[in-house]
Amino acid sequence: MTEVSNAQWYERGKTVLPGGVCSSTRLNQGIGSPVYVARADGARFTDVDGREYIDMSCGHGAALLGHNHPAIHEALIQAAELGICCAADMPYHIQLAEMLCEMIPCAEKIRFTNSGSEATLHAIRLCRAVSGKDKILRFTGHFHGYHEHTYIGGHPPREAMDAPSKYRESAGIPEPLTQFIVTAPFNDLGATRKALEENIGEIGTVILEPVNFNTAGIPPQPGYLEGLRELTREFDVILFFDEVQTSFKKSAGGAQQDFGVIPDICTIGKALGGGLPLSAICGPDQMMDRFKPVGDVQHSGTFNAPLPNILAGLAFCKAVTSRSFYPDLAVVGDEFYKGLDKIIADSGVPLHAPRHGARFGLVMGVEQPPVCYEDTLDHRKDLMLTFVGECAKRGVYFHDYGGAPCHHGFSSAHTTDDMNIVLDVVGAVLKTIS
Ligand SMILES: Cc1ncc(COP(=O)(O)O)c(C=O)c1O
Repeated sequence: MTEVSNAQWYERGKTVLPGGVCSSTRLNQGIGSPVYVARADGARFTDVDGREYIDMSCGHGAALLGHNHPAIHEALIQAAELGICCAADMPYHIQLAEMLCEMIPCAEKIRFTNSGSEATLHAIRLCRAVSGKDKILRFTGHFHGYHEHTYIGGHPPREAMDAPSKYRESAGIPEPLTQFIVTAPFNDLGATRKALEENIGEIGTVILEPVNFNTAGIPPQPGYLEGLRELTREFDVILFFDEVQTSFKKSAGGAQQDFGVIPDICTIGKALGGGLPLSAICGPDQMMDRFKPVGDVQHSGTFNAPLPNILAGLAFCKAVTSRSFYPDLAVVGDEFYKGLDKIIADSGVPLHAPRHGARFGLVMGVEQPPVCYEDTLDHRKDLMLTFVGECAKRGVYFHDYGGAPCHHGFSSAHTTDDMNIVLDVVGAVLKTIS
């Protein structure tokens, strides 16, 4: 607890940070303010008012090991001793790349980036260079970072759904960039084929979240990813799995391992750095060697792959490749999801919770389980925000995502006891809003 309250920090913060925050979505609309954290440990964090929460955001999926994991702590101490930023690679960089090439099915070579947005930005540049085509086919409801190339057509509001590919998701994105975006609904092979046919010779890349966590965790329908794999071969288009969110959530190999469909290229991130910013582009030799200094695609930066992040990444990979990591995570998850399904069935609230490994979504007020973003347009943002606010009052933190049907999750630090507390709170809150 600090002498200045959360509400006071918010007022003070607003004078020096736009909206009092360093990331636009940190204002939790369900709570009515950002939560200023004093300390995070394991499955919990404490705000500056001394209020403790079980964390069901886990850093949007970055804290898969929980907060303040001893191995990550160690890695940071080692980095401080070795020299934090020489802007040069060390043997650790190669060791981590070797580990990832073992873990991720499509990976023969790796390029590290810090954020997931940087990873998709540079991977798209690579795909455009390799395919020689500028247009990208993306799916409504999917998210691939906040940069100009993909922050178009992801989550258009209903009134923009007649031309989703024209919908710029932020002011400041130049209109001409929309010409490079083609959209289709997820889980619809017919629509995907049509989009490829209508843009034949122009689309070079199909990008998707193999599990659509950025719309409530909608899973691929049986056969969909396989069909997409065939279609992209037929049309000679690069298949790009954006696994920034799906990587490591159910297995060390990501959704491509979970579903047995191997893309041409993928991006991974979030959890990879054990809480530090670390993401990567993974692909086959021939494609990855288009990056300079071998090829002609630029990807460089002073802060690429800083030592603390790489050492934390090594510690993370060692943790998740231990024999018990995923079985233990599954035990906690299975119990929790069983409880959640029962609570939802008993609540009378039309609510769906698609899930994949340690992450799940919540869609409220929609009768049928959604198979694509379009099915979630009737999702009740108001109910979601009430849910988030009421859970927070009872000590369980869900991030609000502006009330949108997004993703939540747990970490390896969450025990079954923790999750039972979450279930009790969720059950109580659903009773109040049904
Ligand atoms: C699928 C996907 N791609 C890219 C990103 C962007 O990653 P970052 O927030 O690290 O920039 C995210 C973040 O939520 C994501 O879920």
